[in-house]
Amino acid sequence: MDITELILDDHHEQRRLFAILEQIDSAETGVLSAIWDRLAAFLELHAQAEEEIFYPALLQAGIAARRAGGVEDETLDAIHDHNQIRDAIAEVAHHQVGTDGWYAAVAAANTANSDHMAEEEREGLTDFRRLAGLARRHQLAVAFAAYEARNYAGVQPVDKDPVSYVREAEEKARTDASGSLSVGTLKRN
Ligand SMILES: [Fe+2]
Ligand SMILES: [Fe+2]
Repeated sequence: MDITELILDDHHEQRRLFAILEQIDSAETGVLSAIWDRLAAFLELHAQAEEEIFYPALLQAGIAARRAGGVEDETLDAIHDHNQIRDAIAEVAHHQVGTDGWYAAVAAANTANSDHMAEEEREGLTDFRRLAGLARRHQLAVAFAAYEARNYAGVQPVDKDPVSYVREAEEKARTDASGSLSVGTLKRN
């Protein structure tokens, strides 16, 4: 397994569920609700699994390769995007299912998520394949699959401050490496 493949698989599932929503009659509010609820929970779980497992590993690998600046920027962007996606999901709940306002809120969540996935696939996933070997990517894939399985019913959506998130993840990476890694310096603080 490879964590970058599992993340791509999740992205495909998200695109698939948005596409399913677009093909259901607006009068079928019970069906729309059921599929949206599943998609919303999955989007939140996916973002949190990345924040728990993928982005700390990306930062750690970037620091070890003395390329902390690039992975820090990518992680700051990702955490910012995840907050936007969580906020867009929360906005959907303010609208009655099947109304124009509900469709517009779902479309905004789709846009936020699509833009983020494209960037994440182009940057974070690509860099991680270059920085981490297959054995490490397999180990993280197991952890990622376990996290999603254990939390399949959903997680509490919590926005995170991107700069604090990166600082804490780097501090943990330094502790895990017994202080042998040089920790990157955040450019934006
Ligand atoms: Fe993400
Ligand atoms: Fe993702």
